Amino acid sequence: MSHPRTVAAPPLPAFDYTVFGGTGDLALRKLLPALYLRDRAGQVAAGSRIIAVSRSALDPAEYRAKADAAVRRHVAADELDEELIARFLERLDYVSVDATSSEGWSDLAGRFEGRGDGPVRIFYLATSPSLFGPICDRLKGAGLVTPAARVVLEKPIGRDLDSARAINAQVGAVFAESQIYRIDHYLGKETVQNLLALRFANSLFEPLWNANHIDHVQITVAETVGVEGRGDYYDHSGALRDMVQNHLLQLVCLVGMESPVSLAQEAVRDEKLKVLRSLKPMGVEDVGACTVRGQYRAGAVTGGAVPAYADEPGIPAGSGTETFVALKLEIANWRWAGVPFYLRTGKRLPAKMSEIVIQFRPIPHSIFPQSAGELQANRLIVRLQPDESIRLHLMAKEPGPGGMRLRQAPLNLSFAETFGSRFPDAYERLLMDVVRGNPTLFMRRDEVEAAWAWAETILEGWKSRRDQPKPYISGTWGPSQAIALIERDGRTWHEDELPNAAF
Ligand code: BG6
Repeated sequence: MSHPRTVAAPPLPAFDYTVFGGTGDLALRKLLPALYLRDRAGQVAAGSRIIAVSRSALDPAEYRAKADAAVRRHVAADELDEELIARFLERLDYVSVDATSSEGWSDLAGRFEGRGDGPVRIFYLATSPSLFGPICDRLKGAGLVTPAARVVLEKPIGRDLDSARAINAQVGAVFAESQIYRIDHYLGKETVQNLLALRFANSLFEPLWNANHIDHVQITVAETVGVEGRGDYYDHSGALRDMVQNHLLQLVCLVGMESPVSLAQEAVRDEKLKVLRSLKPMGVEDVGACTVRGQYRAGAVTGGAVPAYADEPGIPAGSGTETFVALKLEIANWRWAGVPFYLRTGKRLPAKMSEIVIQFRPIPHSIFPQSAGELQANRLIVRLQPDESIRLHLMAKEPGPGGMRLRQAPLNLSFAETFGSRFPDAYERLLMDVVRGNPTLFMRRDEVEAAWAWAETILEGWKSRRDQPKPYISGTWGPSQAIALIERDGRTWHEDELPNAAF
């Protein structure tokens, strides 16, 4: 596929982006390519620097060679340009620092001598959350935290409510809340932001966006990948902590929230918080009835054989970590009372696909004879990735003289066809929002804690029920119990345009 050229953008203020975890997967696969693409788009001001930091003993030239390879590997070929790559690499520096000891900190501080208050100073912590507090303390000790400095925290913020609170307190002792950017990259995805446009820039949907007209909501975030060399992290996390507590709940917030008074940062975040606080906590019984955990077995995904989760590198024998979750949640407020939200996410599913399905209620009375065929209720499908689109399923008359025969037909807004330009990766948008000083698309402390408070009710339920994940074959849509979860309620997962499910 050819990628339309990057859209030019006016430069932002010069910055010093210090990336902790600079040799890690996230930095090499996502952050450096995103910064290169923004540089290519003209958004990176002269004099900006990227200082990669990690424990590895590399010199800056060795790091630049790594970064060079990463950019060439993860940026589309038609976006690569020798001159621009060379200019980008010149911005890179590397310092070896041990986050847990005093080693290397004075070298890092040396890199800021003479920089003054000019460039926007950003510390990106792409490390294990257990290092967030210690790194912030040492940044302060090294005299690097200025009143305008910003810190970006990668998810997960902790592994439960207590650890999230402890991290927030440690980081909060060094940086003011307005300096802290908690990243959830789903909020930077174009179509996720488009949910705001769909709901609040159109008069069509909002009057119908409630329990009177909506039967239920489905959110699916499916991946074909397995744990991809992140076994150690993933096995301590699992799908609920890795995906549901953050990405899926943020999608629930954008679908479920009231209209914010404006797009101002606190206005949007206040409304999302209300949704999180309205999530009905799950008791042990609810966890049994409303959640399904799964773990993939060997199988085939997109034509290739793949091993079982238990046989992936770094996974201990007999691991009880889930790689799939399906659940039914309720938002206990006037707008959504009685409307189930069905969520599912998993690794090694048949397709990489994220979508939100709004299922409207059936018409109250049919005037059509049985011969017209089955009447299906309207359905709005927001495809977040790939092939970003918004589709509205309507009933229509089949053309022809044979009488009134009805069929479901889609109204389809394809973003690629309509807007054409390349969609920037979520990280491109979010990394530059930090430079701009706009935290609207980042999670506030109280949001993270409210999301954990609810997710924890499920974690506790699983623990007390000694719930073991149900096996599913790689390349299928998860354990059969996930189908039963929704079918028990007389509904089905939306799958009609997807690869066939095989159970
Ligand atoms: C990350 C998770 O936050 O999101 C990964 O840690 C997951 O496990 C990834 O693969 C999915 O993101 P995307 O943008 O590929 O849908």
